[in-house]
Amino acid sequence: EKGRLLFAGPVDFVKGVVAMPGLPPADRLEVCFAGRSNVGKSSLINALTGRKTLARASNTPGRTQEINYFALGEQRYMVDLPGYGYAEAPLAVVEKWQALLRSYLQGRQTLRRAFVLVDTRHGIKAVDQEILSLLDKSAVTFQVVMTKADKVNAATREANIEQVQAALTKHPAAYPEIVITSSEKGEGIETLRAIIATLE
Ligand code: GTP
Ligand code: MG
Repeated sequence: EKGRLLFAGPVDFVKGVVAMPGLPPADRLEVCFAGRSNVGKSSLINALTGRKTLARASNTPGRTQEINYFALGEQRYMVDLPGYGYAEAPLAVVEKWQALLRSYLQGRQTLRRAFVLVDTRHGIKAVDQEILSLLDKSAVTFQVVMTKADKVNAATREANIEQVQAALTKHPAAYPEIVITSSEKGEGIETLRAIIATLE
């Protein structure tokens, strides 16, 4: 109910940020969405807000290169982070993203939860371990959100949920509950809205 109310209110794109001094004032709680390039971060933000084109989703990996801020009224910020693991990105670009990601995850006081998106078809990959270890060194609780659940059969789904659960046992800052989602079919979206709405 809380989630429904929060997401029924106004949603606005605030700004794209390329460096820490550009972040909006830390005046409300925020959550961020991290994950491999193309895992479905922007699509998930669109599904949560019910706006198909709020966050730019694309077939081209590496589409979102800034930290994009979205406001849920004056209650929350939702933050779309640049995807990582994009093999064709030039090294200098990758290093710049990593530095920004590190400062953001470790230095944003109002960040209450980092959602780490993992493709249900693939489970946690080597590139995801990097962000998990970054999160281990930051003070923020993180939670795995599995994406594109509509694209897998039941057996793969179960196997990869187990793989993620096993991987999380090594990360004390991980929130144990995994959320399985499909931005396409709406699975898990209401659950995630409720989580975002009830954070304190
Ligand atoms: P970057 O910004 O490049 O890091 O990518 P992203 O993580 O924001 O991914 P994005 O939301 O742009 O989605 C990538 C592709 O996956 C798009 O073609 C989406 O339509 C597709 N996609 C995202 N979520 C789902 C889903 O739940 N189901 C299906 N079938 N496709 C999805
Ligand atoms: Mg994106």
